[in-house]
Formats: sequence, C-alpha cells, structure tokens
Amino acid sequence: MATMAAAAVVGACSLLFLFHYLLKGAKRGRNSDLRSLHEVPGLPIIGNLHQLKEKKPHKTFARWAETYGPVYSIRTGANTVVVLNSAEVAKEAMVTRHSLISSRQLPKALDILTADKCMVAMSDYDEFHKMVKRYILNNVLGPSAQKRLRDNRDNLVENVSKQLYDYVKDTPSERVNFRRFFENELFALSLKQALGEDVKSVKVDELGATLSRDEILKVLVSDMMQGAIEVDWRDFFPFLQWVPNKAWEDKIRRFAFRRKAVTKALIAQQKKRIAAGKDLDSYTDFLLREAKTLTEDQITILVWEAIIESADTTLVTTEWALYELAKNPEKQDRLFQEILKVCGLQKLTEDHISQIPYLGAVFHETLRKHSPVPVVPLRYAHEDTELGGFFIPAGSQIAINIYGCNMDKNRYENPLEWIPERFLDGKYDDADLFKTMAFGAGKRVCAGALQASAISCAAIGRLVQDFEWRLADGEEDNVDTFSLTTHKLHPMLATLKPRRYPEQTRPSCSEA
Ligand code: HEM
Repeated sequence: MATMAAAAVVGACSLLFLFHYLLKGAKRGRNSDLRSLHEVPGLPIIGNLHQLKEKKPHKTFARWAETYGPVYSIRTGANTVVVLNSAEVAKEAMVTRHSLISSRQLPKALDILTADKCMVAMSDYDEFHKMVKRYILNNVLGPSAQKRLRDNRDNLVENVSKQLYDYVKDTPSERVNFRRFFENELFALSLKQALGEDVKSVKVDELGATLSRDEILKVLVSDMMQGAIEVDWRDFFPFLQWVPNKAWEDKIRRFAFRRKAVTKALIAQQKKRIAAGKDLDSYTDFLLREAKTLTEDQITILVWEAIIESADTTLVTTEWALYELAKNPEKQDRLFQEILKVCGLQKLTEDHISQIPYLGAVFHETLRKHSPVPVVPLRYAHEDTELGGFFIPAGSQIAINIYGCNMDKNRYENPLEWIPERFLDGKYDDADLFKTMAFGAGKRVCAGALQASAISCAAIGRLVQDFEWRLADGEEDNVDTFSLTTHKLHPMLATLKPRRYPEQTRPSCSEA
C-alpha cells in the first residue's frame, strides 16, 4: 500500500515537472529580455524541502542569497517559490507590482485557522480586505484611535515597571523572567482594545467549562501560534490533497474550534454589557453596532485578530531589545544617559520618545536583527510578471524574506551585529517607522506599526530608566528561536538592579 502510494507520487510528480519545465521554457521565450531565475539545486520530487528541515527558512533563504543572489527560485515539492532577499526587489513586489502579486497562498493550517482568509492580515487584496482594514485602522490601530486608547498603553508600562519593582524587592536574588510580566500586561491591553475590558475568566458553554485568563491566553494566542506553524505535507503536493492526513487535520480543527468557542463566549459577555446600556470604546462595540454586512462568524474572527496581533509581535521585539541592551552594557548606558538628559526627574512616557533618537534606533535595530515576521505569508503571481529584472511565471509563489532584506550586506555593514548607531547616521528620518523592511510596505503594510512602536519604545525606555539590566549567567548564548518564528525559544532571564525606588517617585509628564 505504502509502496503504491510512493509510486503514485513519483509518477505524478515526473509528469508535473515535465509539464512545468515545458511551460516555463515557453514563457521564457516570450520574455527574452528578462533574465531567468537562478534555481537552488534540489532533489527530484521534493525539490529543496530537505534543505529546509532545520526549520529556520528565513536563515536558510538568507544564506542561499549569498550564493545565488538576492532573487532566486526553489522548489518545495510541486511548488515553485521565488524568494526575495533585497529591500529593493521586495518593495517592487509589494508596491510597484502589487496588483499582480496581491493574493495570499496560505498553507492548509492557516486556511483553517483564519476561517478561509477571513481576517485583514490573511485575506486576499479585495473589497473585503479594504473594508476590514478600514475598520481596524479607524477603531483600533490608526493614529486617532491610538490617541484615544493611550491610557491602555500608559497603564501597561506603569504596571510592568511596578510589578518588576515588587518582584525584585521581594526576591532580590532571583533571576527575572521579563516575558511573564510583559505578556500578561500586553494581553490585558489586547483584551481592552478588542472587547472593552480585561477579563478574569469566561464561561464557555461549547467547551462545558469556565476558562481562567491564562487558559484564554493559551487558546487565543499560544495554541494559535503553535497551529500556524504545523506543516501539512500536502501543502507541498497540492495534487495529493485527496490523501487523508486525519490526525494533523483533527488537531488544527480542534485549535480552531476552541478559539471560536472562546471568542464567541467573550463577545457574548460584552453583548450583555451593551444590552445593559454600557457602551465602551472597543472594536467589539463598533463591529456589533456598525458592521451590518458581516456575519457573526466573521465578527468572531475579526475580534480574535485584534487580540492575537496585539499580543504577540510587540512582545517578541521588546524582549529581544532588552536582551540586547542587557548584553551590551555600554549601549544600555548610552540609552540611560540620553533618557536622563531628556526626562530628568520625570517618568519617561510616549511624549518623550521623539526626543530620544537613540531609543528609536534601539527599536529599529532590534526589528532589523530579530524581525518578528521573518517571512511574509506567501503570495502568488496571478499573471506572468517580472521582479528585479527576472521573469516570474504566473502561479509562482512569492516568499518575501524580510529577515534576508534586513541582513543584506550591501545595505547594512556587519548585518549580524546589533548596532543601533547605524540608524543615527543622518541617512534616516527619526520619525520614519519603516526604516527597515520589518513592517512590510505598500498596500499590505503592517496596520499595527504605530501601536507596536509606541508600546515597545515606551516600555524599553521606561524599563531602562527604572532598572539596570544584566543577563543572568549562561543567557548570552541563549539565542535559539522557536520553530519557524523569531520568538526567543527560552524567555530571557535577567538580573535587575533598580536605579531608584518607587518611594522616590518621579512625577509623570502631566504632573511635572
Ligand atoms: C513589531 C511588531 C510588528 C511587526 C514587525 C509586524 C509586521 C508585519 C508585516 C511584515 C506585515 C505585512 C504582511 C504582508 O505584507 O503581507 C504586517 C501586517 C499586518 N499587521 Fe503587523 N507587525 C507588528 C505588529 C502588529 C500589531 C501590534 C498589530 C495589531 C495589533 C498588527 C497588525 C497587522 C495587520 C492587521 C496586518 C495586515 C495588513 C494588511 O494585510 O493590509 N501588526 N505586520
């Protein structure tokens, strides 16, 4: 049985490849002034899949760019993937040729978890996308919404600082797991923005259980991250979709079912509040009141989207920034001195960020070296097109390797080093959020860039103002990342020395 299946795979693939190459040859003939793509040599049938097994594709792609140039193609089973590793060509794909490369090609896991692309970040570029992007920008992530929601961010930073003080005071010799504190507060902010309030627990009838806040975080964020990177081998051989992969599919569907049940229960709680006459400035309030063309299921996914997107990438960036500062005491000291100069006795808040260019440089350099979205979810070319002077046949998948763009030696000297100073050399506008490729570009540019930078910069600045950070013993080499992501695999453990104590309270900006 297994041998028959294997033979079927070999036969089907040979035919497919023959067809594929004939087609490619024919198309190249029609576009003779364009160069053909370099192909990374692989094996028959599986292509380059075996070379990606270390599960850090962004790093493997960047390594291949050194041999094959910034634009090349690989094969993942039956698919041709064009990999882009230079900011110029990535921008060409995301901006100039966006209309030809605007659809998503999602792996099956993401298809299931996003309820068939029913969210801003994963939908195709169509009317639905334009409408829901407008919704999330106007109500949560755009400049005026972020202004209205400022208190949530101030509270987050204040709470993390206070909890760290208390922890250090109670257990001075303990190493501090920063992530535990920050993740909890960031999740509180996500819930407040999405639902209107933080939540202690929720009764979920469909699961027959009441979930604690930690369990809600697991179902809505951690399990989803886990599910999103579960690879289904059928993604690489689309013509074998009919072969069952039940255990895998059951697992992903269970994640999606629990996510939907919990989000629906959270929305139901808010419906009761609204029915009792209490309106809040939340995404749920807006969607229930105004988004009349959306179904209940669509609203459920969109509310969940606002939660998961707030709760993840900002954490990754802030933790890596504090790791790098703790590892580089002289850079931490420079930042502290600049904060001191600008803030004096005041607590650092968002209002100070623009006056401390080194703080922005720390943030952008961290995004560059540890891009939280290392590879943009795959898109595909709907029509023959070109990128960087290369011919791109219709049907190719396009992988924009943001990590590769940010590691380009032609753009950044010593790209593997963490050097915030590189963003202070006058080439960059201090206020520009898009100095690196970390937030993408063009019509699909990150909608949350403003929020991520406000939270991360205020938190980094305030926590360096309040504490001296050092890595705990053995932490320096603890740089492994979780599976396909750039999440630090093990939380950073640091020793913290308060620079002053809460008794010596600083006035905040408004009090000063
Ligand atoms: C440091 C933090 C973050 C980074 C590095 C980041 C990165 C990205 C990137 C690279 C994309 C573009 C994907 C593409 O071109 O297809 C993207 C899209 C998006 N991001 Fe972020 N993101 C961050 C934080 C956030 C936050 C905090 C939110 C919301 C709370 C958010 C919401 C979105 C949305 C809604 C999109 C989809 C935009 C569209 O498709 O039109 N992001 N992000």
